[in-house]
Amino acid sequence: MLLDTPIKSDKNGVYIGIDILFGKKIYWHTEQSPRHHMLVVGPTGSGKTIALTTIATRLANLYNTTLAIFDVKGEYASLIRLFTDKNFIAWNVLQTPIPICNCSEAQEDITHSIRLFINTLNSLYKLPTYIREQIHEQLTKLCKYCYEASLDNVLRGYWVEESETMYTTLSIFGTASESSAPLHLLYQKNVVMDLSKLFLLDPKAAAIATLYVLKRMLRVVKDLNTSPIAKIVLLDELWYLAQSSIEDLVNILIRYSRGYGIALAMATQSIDDLNPYADVIAENCSTILALSSSSRNYWVRLSRYLNLGKKGIENATKFVGQGIGVAKLYPHEKPFYVYIDPID
Ligand SMILES: Nc1ncnc2c1ncn2[C@@H]1O[C@H](COP(=O)(O)OP(=O)(O)O)[C@@H](O)[C@H]1O
Ligand SMILES: [Mg+2]
Repeated sequence: MLLDTPIKSDKNGVYIGIDILFGKKIYWHTEQSPRHHMLVVGPTGSGKTIALTTIATRLANLYNTTLAIFDVKGEYASLIRLFTDKNFIAWNVLQTPIPICNCSEAQEDITHSIRLFINTLNSLYKLPTYIREQIHEQLTKLCKYCYEASLDNVLRGYWVEESETMYTTLSIFGTASESSAPLHLLYQKNVVMDLSKLFLLDPKAAAIATLYVLKRMLRVVKDLNTSPIAKIVLLDELWYLAQSSIEDLVNILIRYSRGYGIALAMATQSIDDLNPYADVIAENCSTILALSSSSRNYWVRLSRYLNLGKKGIENATKFVGQGIGVAKLYPHEKPFYVYIDPID
């Protein structure tokens, strides 16, 4: 039935999929969008990961830009090959730590990175001031003398009664290593940052890794920026970040804007994962896609973000299937019933 319907296509934007009521192709008009963030919501198995990958790779092609994928399930390295021919670097943080500083960096950049690291650690672990000061002093020294170390070694002893999770977190960071993956790879190339093993050990450590890299990216991409989108960041299973530090996440989302040229493509299971900032996050996304569920409550909860009326909610509960959902696409006020088309 859908294929027989004449398709009038409008090629200005990113192809999303088929309007299941009218059979037309639907596009996200990114040129007109005030920002390029996207939020996908849906129960497990509804098609969030496929939707994110589909749309993010098309956005990357349209703007001739690269992707940074934060992968807590270890599924993207193989999945991404189905969607693009481009090369992806796989970065496993348990093998290759995230460098806080390297030997060739300017002092002000090092100072900035150390501060970001301590702030990120502090927003999750709430460290006493004297500990923060000691870490600061220690890291400054290590970076200054270009001393290569893993932070779990050099900062061991700072926490008397701390849990193993602190050491897990520290073990994925290092100083001054020339052999470690330089962060600029992540900014300039297509990278899948494999956090899956770390995530199994400790979701909080995975959150710190992600938040730290995202904050550092802001400083670098600003200087690279030549197009409306300089970098696309894919954050699946957003709840692990929201649970750890929703304030950090919201700050990043707001600061990653059109001016900075960073687009966030995010997915999570429930809009309530983002409480108490669900409204702020939704307001900052030009595309909101809710994938199917037969639960009426689910749609009622999402209705204000999608502009779904009573009738719309009833309809939404009926359209169930993988890749099927309701999309609110800027600048349209009315939502679309859509099938996310991964192949085209
Ligand atoms: N748009 C789609 N069209 C067809 N099949 C899909 C689509 N999206 C998802 N699927 C199927 O559903 C499975 C689960 O999708 P996935 O994106 O991993 O769900 P989620 O991330 O929400 O758990 C996929 O492996 C695929 O088989
Ligand atoms: Mg998924």
